[in-house]
Order: sequence, then C-alpha cells, then structure tokens
Amino acid sequence: MNNPNQDFSIENMDDAFEEFRKDYPCFDSTRIIDELREREYSRLDRLNQVYLDYTGGGLYASSQLRQHMELLEEGVFGNPHSKNPTSLAMTHLAEQARSYVLQYFNANPDEYTAIFTPNASGALKLVGEAYPFHPGGRFLPAFDNHNSVNGIREFARAKGAKVTYMPTVLPELRFDDQALNAELDRVQPESFNLFAYPAQSNFTGVQHSLEWIERAHAKGWDVILDAAAFVSTNPLDLGQWKPDFVPLSFYKMFGYPTGMGCLLARKSTLKKLQRPWFAGGTISITSVQGEGWHYLLENEAGFEDGTINFLNLPAVEIGLRYLSKIGIETIHERVECLIAWLLDQMTAIRHSNGTPLVQIYGPTDTKARGGTIAFNLNDPEGVRLDYRKIEALANLENISLRTGCFCNPGTGEIAHDLIREEMSQAFNHAEPMSFDSFYDWARTEHNLYPSAIRISAGIATNFADIYHFINFISKFVDKPEADVESVEAEYPIYNLMRDSA
Ligand SMILES: Cc1ncc(COP(=O)(O)O)c(C=O)c1O
Repeated sequence: MNNPNQDFSIENMDDAFEEFRKDYPCFDSTRIIDELREREYSRLDRLNQVYLDYTGGGLYASSQLRQHMELLEEGVFGNPHSKNPTSLAMTHLAEQARSYVLQYFNANPDEYTAIFTPNASGALKLVGEAYPFHPGGRFLPAFDNHNSVNGIREFARAKGAKVTYMPTVLPELRFDDQALNAELDRVQPESFNLFAYPAQSNFTGVQHSLEWIERAHAKGWDVILDAAAFVSTNPLDLGQWKPDFVPLSFYKMFGYPTGMGCLLARKSTLKKLQRPWFAGGTISITSVQGEGWHYLLENEAGFEDGTINFLNLPAVEIGLRYLSKIGIETIHERVECLIAWLLDQMTAIRHSNGTPLVQIYGPTDTKARGGTIAFNLNDPEGVRLDYRKIEALANLENISLRTGCFCNPGTGEIAHDLIREEMSQAFNHAEPMSFDSFYDWARTEHNLYPSAIRISAGIATNFADIYHFINFISKFVDKPEADVESVEAEYPIYNLMRDSA
C-alpha cells in the first residue's frame, strides 16, 4: 500500500475512529444516531451484520414496528372505501398519513397530492401509461435513470412520441449543462414533452441539480424527478422545487413497510394524464351497458386502483415522523462524513507497485453526491477482480453490498465503455442473456467488464461498518487476480416462524 501508515486491522479501529473524528468534527453533531444504533438497530450488531445497501433498502427502527403493531392491536380497521365505523376509522388514518406525507415534503395540498402506490416503480408506471404521448411529442430520459424510468419509453414509443436519451459525461458522470440546455431547447411546443431524471443516481450517488426542474419548465417540459434514491438522506422541499411528478418508495427511506410508495403529483399536471383503464375506487359511477361510460374521480382517488394497502398507511406516517424527529439534515450530515472518509481511504489504497486497488465510478469527493459509491477492484497488474468473487467473500464477512448494474444500465454503459455496436450484438444474440452471461460474453468478446460493486450508507451506518468494509477490501492489496479465491457463500437462513397458539 502506498499508504503504508494505514493498517486497517480491526485492532486499530479505535485509533482510526479518533482520527476520523478529528478530520470530520461535524460527525460529533450526529452522535444521537449512535445511540439510535444501539437502541433501534441493535439487531445489526447482535447478528454481526455490516449493512451497506441502503440504496437497495433502508432499515427500520424497532420502535417503528412496535408503534405500528400497537396501533393495529388497539383498533378495529375495515376497508376504507365505506362509511361504517371501522371503515371510517381507517379512512381517517389513511388521510392523516396522506396529509403527513405532503407536510413532510413541504408540499402545499392545494398544489400537490400524494397518490399511494406499491413502490416507486408503480408510481412511474402510473405516469408512463397515462402521459399523453403522441407523434410529435417527446420523452427525454437520462442515461442515469433507473430501469423503472427507462420503461416509460415503451409507452412513449407505442404512442409515437420521440424518445431521446440525455447522456452523462465521464469522469463524474454528470450532465453536460450545455448539452442538456440544447436538448431542452428541442421541445415541441405544440405537443407534450416529458423530461425524467434522478435527483440522485442509484449507481454513482451523483446528485443532479434540482435547478433543472425550473429550467425545463421554462422551456415547456413536464418533469419527473425520480427521488427514490435521494430522499432517504436528503431533504426534498416541494415548497421550493416544483417537479410535476415525484416517485418514491418508503422502504428506502425507513425500511418498513415494504410494498408502499407514492407519486407526489402536481395537481395541474396530473389533469393532463389519461388513464388507460379504471378500477374499483377510481370512478364515481360506470355502467356495463355502454362502452366508455365512467366518471373518473379527481386527483389521487382517480389513480389508486382498488383497495389501497390500508393497514400499512399508518406505518408510513410513523416512519416519516421518526425521520423528522432525528432530522433528515442530521442523517445527511452523518452520511456525508462517513462517505467522505470512505472515498479518501478507497482512493488512497495502493498496491506495492503504486497502482490503485479501487476504481470508483463517479465523483471521488462529496460535492453534490450522496451516500452511494460504485466501484471495482483491480489487482496490481490492473486486472479486474471478478465482482462475483468479491461479493461471495464479502458475504463470508457478513458484509451486505450489491453488485451488477443496479437497474441503471445507461450509467453502466458509459462507465464501462460499452458502445451501441456492442450492445446491439448482445441484443441480437441467439438466446436471451442473463446478466452473468452478458458479463462473461462482454469480457471474452470485447475485454470489457460491465459490472460494478456498490456500497451505500444510510440512517444506521456507523464508523465500525465502514471501517470493516475498508478492512475487507484492503485484503486484496497485492493479490493477483488468480489468487482471489472462489468461495461458496453460505447464507444465514432465518427460520423464525412459529405456530400461532
Ligand atoms: C433511483 C431509483 N428509482 C426507482 C427505483 C425503483 O424503486 P422500487 O424498486 O422500490 O420500485 C429505485 C430502486 O432502487 C431507484 O434507486
């Protein structure tokens, strides 16, 4: 290591922590989270888990579960689409949760509504299937979008709208301002134009400027701001920023419950959407004796198909209140300190011959970036270490990280140098490819390695987690690729099911 004074053995963790606190004094203002880690997330240390996949899913606090279960135990709750006492009790809690969601994001209820969906993808589908794309109209997604945004292009294409992708540019994998301005200038004023970009990349952690919302509006675009990866560690103030559609998943913010997301929608733009169907709960009346006879309800009611996930709605409010109590700024500050240290260490680790161990995709400082780091490891000769081996070895140490393309193929294509011709060969292959076979094919045919490893910090991350991770990767210093073992990872199987009395 050309960082020879750094020894990441676990015995040195306390000293490293003291150094870290000196380098990042702002961390001390977030020590309340260390107390929460002991009280609310004690299962992490009890089970020796180093959880570094907060962009995949957040973690719930024990008190969130208790509060939700107590509420369910104390009440009798019926399906909210009715006027009986148990139904009204549920309706009250559901509407309270809805208004708390708006309050949390500082969204004026006259301007925005919160439509409950199963997840961020469900929110995006609501927009995609109902946006009035037509020939002459435009859909402008970003290379850095998640596949659940990319999928909207299929609705746009089917309705004849033009789809153009906005690239991000190496090395930081951000937009080029001039290029994006020029693309936004190609608006079709007589038609419908939809621009979609992530507030934070789920691949690189890059935060794309929220200023693009108003710049796009000024030129005549409607805007989807995908906030799914952003809101777990950053405030989103809809009093200040006015995107038309904001999809998000609550489990990414506070872990529990899964199966709940929402579409924050600007009411004036929501009116433009044309739903391709109706369902129970979304209409006032219909008749089976005439085609097209139905009255769609206004605002959120017209978009929540069937019975909403009503028993989980109070848990959403509980989760948001929990975040508010800690303060999203405190979580942000903490994650920023931890990520800054991680980036410093990861970029400093060298093999004895001076070559870097780690290749990071995206920015290597904390300016306009969140708590996600995508990277690969190389051996002293620059040979890429297979992500599958790294993942399996991390599993042996109970480190939860993520590998692959993270459902963000566009940033992967730019980061890994995959050009259109190569991708076209992959899609004209005799057989559909799995991700692993695609990776092996790209490696053997094109000497390209289209996969990365991703870690992400979040609400319960502490210094020990990231120290363990650096300890883990520093074991690959000076190790030739051929010497990295292939291990069969053993996964812990939790069997906590019991027969009820
Ligand atoms: C930026 C972004 N958008 C959308 C999604 C989709 O979220 P979900 O799978 O909860 O629908 C994710 C999930 O990782 C994401 O990171």
